[in-house]
Amino acid sequence: KFSTTVARERDDFHYGNFPEGFKWSVSTSAYQIEGGWNADGKGESIWDTFSHTPGKIANNETGDVACDSYHKVKEDVNLVKMLGVQQYRFSISWSRIFPDGTTSYVNQAGVDYYNSLIDSLLKIGVEPVVTLYHWDLPQALEDIGGLLNETVVDRFNEYADFCFKTFGNRIKFWITFNEPYVITWLGYGIGVFAPGINSSPGEAPYQAAHNIIKAHAKAYRTYEKFYKSKGGRIGMTMSTEWAEPKDPNNPSDVEAADRFLQSILGWFAHPIFKNGDYPEVVKKQVNERRTQSRLPVFTDAEKVEIAGTADFFAINGYTMIEIHMKYDWLQIVPWGMRRLLNWLDREYGHPTIYITENGVGTSDATVDDQIRVNFYKAYINEALKAQQLDGVDLRGYTAWSLMDNFEWNSGYGPRFGLFEVDFNDAMRPRTPKRSSIYYNQLIRNNGFPL
Ligand code: NOJ
Repeated sequence: KFSTTVARERDDFHYGNFPEGFKWSVSTSAYQIEGGWNADGKGESIWDTFSHTPGKIANNETGDVACDSYHKVKEDVNLVKMLGVQQYRFSISWSRIFPDGTTSYVNQAGVDYYNSLIDSLLKIGVEPVVTLYHWDLPQALEDIGGLLNETVVDRFNEYADFCFKTFGNRIKFWITFNEPYVITWLGYGIGVFAPGINSSPGEAPYQAAHNIIKAHAKAYRTYEKFYKSKGGRIGMTMSTEWAEPKDPNNPSDVEAADRFLQSILGWFAHPIFKNGDYPEVVKKQVNERRTQSRLPVFTDAEKVEIAGTADFFAINGYTMIEIHMKYDWLQIVPWGMRRLLNWLDREYGHPTIYITENGVGTSDATVDDQIRVNFYKAYINEALKAQQLDGVDLRGYTAWSLMDNFEWNSGYGPRFGLFEVDFNDAMRPRTPKRSSIYYNQLIRNNGFPL
């Protein structure tokens, strides 16, 4: 059963507004909403395979139909419009465009779908934000080793290049990978996410991470070289729980919390935002666990290519972990958001930050979701404090999610939507929740005016 517990409050409410031009946004991802899993020539992805394997997903649910967004551009864009956001973050399904993962064959129906979505958003004045990889690797690439096979670096770059070329006249905000930590650890470490490789404590997650970082950097350089002059920005979305030392006055607790953040977030952010290489604590930690090193090594040329490949820091933040405490990822800990933003600000030299996801999953399908209203109010207020009181360069906030959808191995149980979706009705009707009205109000106020 999905539970939510509210952590102790530490700070007072802060009245004030976000700066002018602040981007309010809302997010989804392809596999979680589109459905149409084999429609019009789409190739299979690792999530199709995984969800079709009995025992992998709660109640053996699948994303075969999901919210049926593949057939509901008009409906979805209307929801986006009702919220009054300035941006909509969605992802492109790689195998909907390239069914076998390579550029040898383009599935035009897939291209048409994204063109129609993008054009409809622009028509209502909403800026599309595109994630290129939100976990649904083409199965054909998985068949030859997936993210563990270094050739994926070139395949990803070719796919990204095609998207820049095809949609880039209208898309000016790109995310290469979504949450690489989750991809590598859940997919290649403990195997609870596709492709379901349980290698713990093996090399696989480190190898997958290595290739993701290289693929990201290569696509960034492609964008920089051929497309950026026409305007546009590109980065990677990372994620972590905030790590709170159990006793902030105990140096070993403080150090343990920092180590946690380095191993989840620094693993990816350190190469990209610092010197093109993994943080020392990660090297030490991983390599000490065995006599032989299992953290792959970047060449000097790769380090140069990787360092500096982000135009902004994109972060997904949900909850926190207290070091030495059992962790419940659904704890509601608004002040963790402020601390996380401050940590990023300090650690990575005052970057421009976008929150690309934040939200709460509840087991209740009700549209009367006061808990989600309270959640957004509290978290966004902490984000405001970070921006206004602490001087963090926060430029945008994205709610997860536009509507209830397929929550990976938890199936349709957890509901994250601002709009409710009735999954028992073939038409998949969407209904506004109380939280959608609240979010719209907050956006119109651009924060919390006195
Ligand atoms: C992060 C992921 O990017 C998204 O796909 C997921 O649904 C949410 N967190 C909620 O778990």
